[in-house]
Amino acid sequence: MLVVAVSKKVEEMNYFELLAWLGIGSSHPGGFPATQQNLEAMQVKPEEFVLDAGCGSGLTACHLAKTIGCKIIGVDINPQMIEKAGLRAQKEGVSHLVEFRQADVYSLSFVDNHFDLVIAESIAVFLDKVKVYQEFYRVLKPEGRVADLEMVLLAELPANLRLQMEACFGASTNPLPPEEWLNALTAAGFQDVEIKNPQRMKNNGNVILNELKKDWVLIKGLTEKAAYLPGLITRLQKNAGFMKRNRGYFGFGLVCGRKPTPPPPPEKRGFRSWVRRVFRLK
Ligand SMILES: C[S@@+](CC[C@H](N)C(=O)[O-])C[C@H]1O[C@@H](n2cnc3c(N)ncnc32)[C@H](O)[C@@H]1O
Repeated sequence: MLVVAVSKKVEEMNYFELLAWLGIGSSHPGGFPATQQNLEAMQVKPEEFVLDAGCGSGLTACHLAKTIGCKIIGVDINPQMIEKAGLRAQKEGVSHLVEFRQADVYSLSFVDNHFDLVIAESIAVFLDKVKVYQEFYRVLKPEGRVADLEMVLLAELPANLRLQMEACFGASTNPLPPEEWLNALTAAGFQDVEIKNPQRMKNNGNVILNELKKDWVLIKGLTEKAAYLPGLITRLQKNAGFMKRNRGYFGFGLVCGRKPTPPPPPEKRGFRSWVRRVFRLK
């Protein structure tokens, strides 16, 4: 049985600690339906090697392994998430395909050109986007793809609402307008950048409350958790209320790009190559 250590009150936990403690499976805009729609658009192949960066409790990685049969490594900075993700992989019988490791996406331990696809869901919104994308770029093979589901800002957020958003999701929360997401990918070196499946935030846009209703990892301990920590429901309602009242400012989409093939090494500039170039000899 999974033992969840409770050393802090809910009110003291930051957003990631709260998600990890709950074990939320799809803590991103649009929830699991958006994941399914995006995976469809990505057309992942069984032979592809995938990194799920900021994998949380591993729902997407395990689903991908189960439905496509590809190999995946999921990384997350939070050890509780990694513990729950490993448990999920075991329960779902995909431990032979999925591996979970605790790691910081700013500095991954993988060699360059390692993965065919990097997926991420709601992690760059909290971090330095270009720095994260540069690391994704490094670990991707040439022609490798990045597909990152992120919250998109549809209108300028007034300062008071920005403060409220930060109080709910953390001080570093910074959703960008669509073109700025694409600029961040381009700045990291990606090409063919686009936002797939753009959507407005729906009425039911609160990820935690939605996922609480259906993910088995959560349901198991929720009653016990709510009883143990009375601040939980208040905190969840605060986050849900913010998104409901202000959903017109927010949307989400799959921020996609491709790592280009490196250019061929420069031709040697000797006399022979000059003759070949001038006389168009092969
Ligand atoms: C909003 S949750 C999304 C989790 C998961 N992708 C999902 O959609 O359910 C953000 C996740 O990013 C992780 N995270 C935050 N900063 C990180 C970092 N620097 N490196 C790796 N993971 C990080 C958090 O621990 C958390 O699990």
